[in-house]
Amino acid sequence: MKTLVLVTQKGGSGKSSLAASLAVAAEEAGERVFMLDLDRQGTLANWINRRTAETPGFDRVNTEGELNTALATLADQKFTLTIIDTPGTDNPLVTAAIRAADLCLVPTRPTPADLEATQPTLEAIQSTRRRFAFVLNQTPVRSSRLNEAAAGLRMFGVLAEPTISQRNDHQDAIGAGQGVTEYNPHGKAADELRSLWGWLNGKLKG
Ligand SMILES: Nc1ncnc2c1ncn2[C@@H]1O[C@H](COP(=O)(O)OP(=O)(O)OP(=O)(O)O)[C@@H](O)[C@H]1O
Ligand SMILES: [Mg+2]
Repeated sequence: MKTLVLVTQKGGSGKSSLAASLAVAAEEAGERVFMLDLDRQGTLANWINRRTAETPGFDRVNTEGELNTALATLADQKFTLTIIDTPGTDNPLVTAAIRAADLCLVPTRPTPADLEATQPTLEAIQSTRRRFAFVLNQTPVRSSRLNEAAAGLRMFGVLAEPTISQRNDHQDAIGAGQGVTEYNPHGKAADELRSLWGWLNGKLKG
């Protein structure tokens, strides 16, 4: 079982939205997916409640002990992928999730201030020697220009491809209890999301 952790202290960068849509896209690609929500805000719990589909599996986790028990149980149950959504704060539970990750995905909006704000999260990831990648999220559709910082990330090989554009499908899908690939399967948001899953899958299996 592989474990993908969506993490950054910067609020509103897209952790929960991407966790939900990636879970659905990974299932569509044949994975058996379970989601763990470490955020008391409950974005994913509300999303799951709106879903009519029975998968992905979902549970909330409040302590490090619960997290470790859940991951061991899920591996026994032959889930192939666990996706963990974390709160936009730093706490020991988030550090435990980072430690359990095969890959940490750090969503960030493509502004210098947002990129700078990822620094404490990167330090936490690097202190546990976990693998990580940024994904630029909510990039403007009408501008293909990436700022210098993003180009630098790409050169270091830590920028997931493709970047995820700002599109209403992401907001509407969450409201409908779906992933973007379910909500509008032939839309551009769905295409980007499937490509992102393909890129992440390569990193997770590589
Ligand atoms: N690619 C996108 N296009 C349009 N809207 C987006 C996109 N990604 C996220 N959003 C919107 O941005 C807002 C924040 O997203 P989300 O809740 O996923 O962020 P988060 O990192 O989980 O936030 P928090 O730190 O509060 O948990 C939501 O309203 C969501 O619908
Ligand atoms: Mg969230």
